[in-house]
Amino acid sequence: QVFRLEDYRRSDYRIPETRLAFDLDPEQTTVVSELVIERADDSAAGAPLVLDGDGLDLVALELNGEALGENAFEATPDRLTIHALPTDSTFRLTITTRVNPSANQALMGLYRSSGVYTTQCEAEGFRRITYYLDRPDILSVYRVRLEADKATAPLLLSNGNPVEAGDLPGGRHFAVWDDPHPKPSYLFALVAGDLGVVTDEFVTMSSRRVALGIHVEKGKEPRAAYAMDALKRSMKWDEEVFGLEYDLDVFNIVAVSDFNMGAMENKGLNIFNDKYVLADEETATDADFANIEAIIAHEYFHNWTGNRITCRDWFQLCLKEGLTVFRDHEFSADQRSRAVKRIAEVRTLKAHQFPEDQGPLAHPVRPRRYREINNFYTATVYEKGSEVVRMIRTILGAEAFRAGMDLYFERHDGDAATIEDFLTVFEEVSGRDLSQFALWYHQAGTPNVSVKASHNAATGELVLDIEQSSPPTPGESRKRLMHIPLAFGLVGPDGRDMVWESVEGATIEHGVLHVRKRKHHVRFTGISERPRLSLNRGFSAPITLSVEEKPEDRAFLARHDGDLFSRWQALGGLMSDAIIEASKHLRDGRKAEYGREIPELCGVIATDDRLEEAYRALALALPSEADVAREIGANIDPDAILAARNGLVEAIAAANGDTFAALYDQLADSEPFTPDAASAGRRSLRNMLLDYLSSGPGATGRAAAQYRDAGNMTDRSAALSVLVMRHPDAADTKAALADFETRFGDDALVMDKWFQIQAAAPGAGALETVRTLTTHPGFSIANPNRVRSLIGTFSSANQTGFHRADGEGYRFFADIVLQVEQRNPQVAARLATGLRSWRSLEPKRKARAREALLRIASTENLSPDLRDIVERTLA
Ligand code: ARG
Ligand code: ZN
Repeated sequence: QVFRLEDYRRSDYRIPETRLAFDLDPEQTTVVSELVIERADDSAAGAPLVLDGDGLDLVALELNGEALGENAFEATPDRLTIHALPTDSTFRLTITTRVNPSANQALMGLYRSSGVYTTQCEAEGFRRITYYLDRPDILSVYRVRLEADKATAPLLLSNGNPVEAGDLPGGRHFAVWDDPHPKPSYLFALVAGDLGVVTDEFVTMSSRRVALGIHVEKGKEPRAAYAMDALKRSMKWDEEVFGLEYDLDVFNIVAVSDFNMGAMENKGLNIFNDKYVLADEETATDADFANIEAIIAHEYFHNWTGNRITCRDWFQLCLKEGLTVFRDHEFSADQRSRAVKRIAEVRTLKAHQFPEDQGPLAHPVRPRRYREINNFYTATVYEKGSEVVRMIRTILGAEAFRAGMDLYFERHDGDAATIEDFLTVFEEVSGRDLSQFALWYHQAGTPNVSVKASHNAATGELVLDIEQSSPPTPGESRKRLMHIPLAFGLVGPDGRDMVWESVEGATIEHGVLHVRKRKHHVRFTGISERPRLSLNRGFSAPITLSVEEKPEDRAFLARHDGDLFSRWQALGGLMSDAIIEASKHLRDGRKAEYGREIPELCGVIATDDRLEEAYRALALALPSEADVAREIGANIDPDAILAARNGLVEAIAAANGDTFAALYDQLADSEPFTPDAASAGRRSLRNMLLDYLSSGPGATGRAAAQYRDAGNMTDRSAALSVLVMRHPDAADTKAALADFETRFGDDALVMDKWFQIQAAAPGAGALETVRTLTTHPGFSIANPNRVRSLIGTFSSANQTGFHRADGEGYRFFADIVLQVEQRNPQVAARLATGLRSWRSLEPKRKARAREALLRIASTENLSPDLRDIVERTLA
């Protein structure tokens, strides 16, 4: 079944009130749902009421307190249709269903994980609990009664505020929760179990006291302290930056160990993958701390962008996700270093969204059709969706942007809104026409901007010939012209931005050139010397650039551009070109050359103490093998890329050995561990240097010593990773792996790192390693985190192992995807996107990858989730 945006129509019925009563039992939970239903208007008179279900078992059904006759309704596991309805416009429907939380391995709806009852309803999980109008434009006020065994489930949580609780006979007890804010069913949640808790309080700007609770596995409470701190900082930030206040008496977060994604913003009761809550220095890396901070903020920010203003339908998913990602990015930028954060965002965007946009799964930020909505929680909807909001701010300026946001909250609070509603507020406050800009929501694919410059020293004239183009994507062969805000600078010989006298051919405002036509012939006057072009500063638009420029110009920008983002971009471009060039040579059986410029630049940047350490670490990080493959685009040979990349690592290390070694020693941390950005930055630079210093044959000493002496997980896992990636067969490596397993064998989240590090180790032997690890007692095909760390890492971060020339990597992968699918179609579908770039491989690998995809596609009884992904990938 295909769902289309243009088919949207309002429901004939509304559900102003929802009362749920759960009698919780591991295998037989009874759910009584009492709905006040309202006919939308007279035109709907006589229309049957059709409620969504998914695998449900109906126990009883009453209308206005009386049992319904056999002929009055029709119930299947997936639908409840009521034909005979009263003529009054309002009536009461009571539905009793029975569900088995323990048998639910898809982790959608109500399930039990490590003895804890929990729910996940977005997007369409509520219909696995009870029959309902399970669509986001049905807003209802909920009152929820939970009843459970007191010994095993002393904690009973749901959305809203607690109103009543008490004991019941037979060792049972109950709690009642009331949520005054109307919400769609996807935001419903309950949790029942025996958990430890960390509590705190937040006083809002209007002096409302909010009781905060983070509930985690007993004994792990100390590991929730950082998440609590991040939550309070998020609450404060949203007040200060957007004027948005929290709106209930309590706010609870629960960490669970079996979870399909990162976290979920259920009203007043956020549920998290425990990986994004639990952290301390011994078990979590700096990256884990940063992710926790970002995701705690993200889910909290949804309270306004998502919950108070929700989506009219699932096509509008980016309305809440793109905007909320933008908000969490800004939060992290304010809490940490803005330049470093921006570079990290762009790296993520290029690593995840660009390949999606440039492959068979490309879709607009606001899709027009889907078969399975769960497959649209993508980097395009989230990350590119955030970039589109960022561009709105770039075009309008910070002040008008904030005015637009204020108007959005004022006008749409309590609504199920659309992208059009969102764009309209910005048009109104700014007086600008955003209709061309809106194509960023409607048109898939990564636009390209090409720029040619010519300078006339005699006349002081600089001409830029700018041309935009957008490659075709599935279902969209002809593209319309986009409005691309291109931030830029003309960098003069002293490294400063040059100032022009006049310009014609394009609108330029605050350093942003607005590309709106196919071609712009832009003429600057008063430019006495040839400038270097610093283009798309801060990644003002999510595009690719084609610029005719000399390597010397890039090297100049990498050294001197006043914009830190552009310096990073220039250096990364040089590195990428050098690796591509070398990989061509290696494929032709020639010797690779890397030149002196890049190694020298790396030395300069590494030791420039005017730059933050975190920035220096990012600058020294070579483009990944996957980045390089994406730049090459076709006929990819992963082995040549790996060899070329390693060659550049060794060239950089050879030129800077002593400098790097001295800096490595100097950066050793003597202070006690703190997770703040500056300390994390020092560790990241030091660990980057460790990688270079360990690149030569037999160079295991430093990493082995760092592993042994590490006082925190960041340094320990970085050392282990260097050993495994650079020296897979060394005795030091084997010893470190064994030691890690001994230390952390019973800590599943830490063992994920152990699986992950090994799954990324390059080479033909990787497959055997990964295959063997699937039989390790710590691995479980039923747990999404385990599957992602071992199999997800292998398929996404191990170019040479996964893309083994004989196709065995793909065969193994297809087998696993099909096994995961048996229990959890959503996780299997997500995993299967690991093959989305198969068409850009060299012919032999391409044929093998296609075979694996075809084998999945021809499997009987494939879930709609996995079928959708493989069919689109093959189309
Ligand atoms: N809304 C959640 C978040 O971004 C993610 C929910 C994902 N749901 C899904 N079915 N994939 O915070
Ligand atoms: Zn979200």
